[in-house]
Amino acid sequence: MSRVLLKQVRPYGEGDPVDLLVENGLVADIAPEIDADADELLHLGGAVVLPGFVDLHTHLREPGREDAETIETGSMAAALGGYTAVFAMANTDPVADNAVVVEHVWRRGRETGLVDVHPVGAVTVGLNGEQLAELGTMARSAAQVRVFSDDGRCVHDPLIMRRALEYTRSFGGLIAQHAEEPRLTVRAQAHEGANAARLGLAGWPAAAEESIVARDCLLAGHTGGRLHICHVSTAGTAEILRWWKARQEPGEVSAEVTPHHLLLTDERLATYDPVNKVNPPLRTETDVRALRQALADGTVDCVATDHAPHAAQDKDCEWSAARPGMLGLQTALSIVVQTMVRAGLLDWRGVARVMSERPAEIAGLADQGRPVAVGEPANLAVVDPDAVWTVRGAELASLASNSPYEGMRLPGRVVATLLRGRVTAHEGKVRR
Ligand code: DOR
Repeated sequence: MSRVLLKQVRPYGEGDPVDLLVENGLVADIAPEIDADADELLHLGGAVVLPGFVDLHTHLREPGREDAETIETGSMAAALGGYTAVFAMANTDPVADNAVVVEHVWRRGRETGLVDVHPVGAVTVGLNGEQLAELGTMARSAAQVRVFSDDGRCVHDPLIMRRALEYTRSFGGLIAQHAEEPRLTVRAQAHEGANAARLGLAGWPAAAEESIVARDCLLAGHTGGRLHICHVSTAGTAEILRWWKARQEPGEVSAEVTPHHLLLTDERLATYDPVNKVNPPLRTETDVRALRQALADGTVDCVATDHAPHAAQDKDCEWSAARPGMLGLQTALSIVVQTMVRAGLLDWRGVARVMSERPAEIAGLADQGRPVAVGEPANLAVVDPDAVWTVRGAELASLASNSPYEGMRLPGRVVATLLRGRVTAHEGKVRR
């Protein structure tokens, strides 16, 4: 029997500090003072305890780009960031469009053992947008894939999208769409607006996202399928989602927003530093405000990192040659604290909802996103709400260091993470 005793924690940041005993992977007791022999005793000084975070959108780069990230280094970053489950995107090399690759990712995740790694299966063969991948075979594989996405690319053909939504209905699968009408973003480098124009960069208009979101809501309603919109970036998308959710059509539509779209704007273009290049691009202050509001009121369901590590040579180059994407796993909680908690838009229950409960529900994970309560699985994130820390990309666990928050002082820090009762991270160190 393994026992971990957390001394002085505040579930959801509410009430006086209590002790929380974990036994054999479950929360066994929560009481003002617990005296028990424990294999591990963590003194947490009144820190907030939440259900472990669930990231629906992580790029782990393995197989294929192990120079940017591996399942092991990405899992370390996830554990340090308070995550107990992540969904590994399919745009690897080879693409995760078949049972062999998804089982490989799933197995490597299990061997690493720091976070539950759920492979996302590609919607189309080779992410080519033309031919449906073997979704059912991936679902029936050992990896039991339930989330499918061509992320990095849009499933732009409406008939393919319709078929994917229809087909995955039979086993409760979810199609996670990277909403980008490719005909409107040819050569696009940044948000279409004054800042891109000033630098002579081709624009990525908000309408390229919004037109796909509107179309796919209609298709989800028509088919009764389950649609999830990845990295919502515009105020218009939030409006479309609000309109659609109010209609309560058949099917189900959910959406995520990234930490970077909650904080950063295209004013960053002035730096001309490709660390700020991301897809969809950083938008305007108006968009940021609308996204925060949409997350607060549930129009956007959850936060997902779109953690996108890139090797130095793919980022330290001129803007147009740089790959889009930013690190996110170790900074997500702090950005949510800064943009939502400090702004009075979410309390700690709200943070649990957007970073753990809703993503677990959307993905159909039964043992994640559960309440911090006796008898529940001990998948937990412990957060020091008063900590302030300075981001140093080189010190993050990821192999890559493309953090847009380099040098920034951020509030709130994950001090411990438990996966099924095992401490996977404590005070900035991964535990094996
Ligand atoms: O910025 C991005 N990077 N957006 C995506 O959709 C893909 C991702 C990547 O794979 O690097």
